[in-house]
Amino acid sequence: MLHDALGRPLHDLRVSVTDRCNFRCAYCMPRDVYDRDHVYLPRDEILTFEEIERLVRVFAGLGVEKVRLTGGEPLLRHDLDDLVARVAAVERISDVAMTTNGSTLARHATALAEAGLDRVTVSLDAVDDTSFRGAADVDFPVARVLEGIDAAKDAGLTPVKINTVVRRGLNDETIVDIAGAFRETGHIVRFIEYMDVGSSNDWKMKDVVTADQILATIADEWPLDPIDPNYPGEVVRRWRYRDGQGEIGVIASVSKPFCGECTRLRLSADGSIYTCLFATQGTDLRDPLRSGATDEELVELITAVWQARSDRYSEERTGVSLGLPKVEMSFIGG
Ligand code: GTP
Ligand code: 5AD
Ligand code: SF4
Ligand code: SF4
Repeated sequence: MLHDALGRPLHDLRVSVTDRCNFRCAYCMPRDVYDRDHVYLPRDEILTFEEIERLVRVFAGLGVEKVRLTGGEPLLRHDLDDLVARVAAVERISDVAMTTNGSTLARHATALAEAGLDRVTVSLDAVDDTSFRGAADVDFPVARVLEGIDAAKDAGLTPVKINTVVRRGLNDETIVDIAGAFRETGHIVRFIEYMDVGSSNDWKMKDVVTADQILATIADEWPLDPIDPNYPGEVVRRWRYRDGQGEIGVIASVSKPFCGECTRLRLSADGSIYTCLFATQGTDLRDPLRSGATDEELVELITAVWQARSDRYSEERTGVSLGLPKVEMSFIGG
């Protein structure tokens, strides 16, 4: 098994399939930065499904068992079910998940499930129309996202998880409404601390609502009891409603970082690998891929990158980026 410089194995691969999104969440793709003039990756620089499939095969040989498709918004990529089928067919890949904003999920859920997708996570920061339009900064009805979540459940993409980033002044007043909307549904809401990813969201510590504060707010309404992790190194801390009406989670990437057990590698849409969400630089695999590298050569390249990996940004949260711009979440995947 392949281990990094801090002894962490390579286990999960997160594949960003596009740097585009039809939403403009302020913490991820603020409209003033991602405006009409923003330049996205040109089509020929984006990995084809064949190229992604080949890389997934190589990663699987190095220990990856879990693949998450992300973006931007992955469903903006046409025929994504074709990619899902290719990834799901790779030997040793036992879990294929997707993070989506849910805007077109109602239309795609059945085909994705039939192609072999195991489950989805839907990013959703508010459940009432006004707050939703504010949070996603888009003229889009929240009802369509909720229909997408229902369709995912009907298609068996379960448990459906809902990722809610909590940002002070934006949606911290509606935490209980969001929790309430999904109690008794079998869906799992995970409240995420707002992080300093990228360089465009003007992150400030004062905008972070900590996991403990979030839990206290919910427990005030519905008492909670902790539950064990599903697997070692799970980023979420799980809680169940004492009255048996479901489960929630908190992801405390700021107040209680989890770098010590981070087994995730990220592949950007243009074919670079990043060893940390807060990286400033990746390692290009597309050029080698397109200039005829053998699988053995790719294995050698990836092995060297993973073995040299010593990232633990969230535990340090210092100026490790040395003034270089950090890569954006919409580019590297959530
Ligand atoms: P499961 O496969 O369902 O267990 O997914 P997960 O619990 O890993 O969660 P998911 O992939 O949905 O990630 C949820 C959120 O956690 C992301 O949107 C990020 O905000 C945060 N997160 C995930 N991975 C990392 C990571 O490696 N580092 C940091 N700092 N945050 C992360
Ligand atoms: N802090 C925390 N989570 C974030 N996401 C995007 N930007 C941030 C941030 N600054 C999450 C979204 C989504 C996934 C793609 O990443 O909520 O679930
Ligand atoms: Fe799009 Fe997701 Fe980023 Fe929001 S968080 S802008 S939905 S990629
Ligand atoms: Fe992993 Fe980097 Fe996140 Fe730490 S900050 S958990 S090393 S991706």
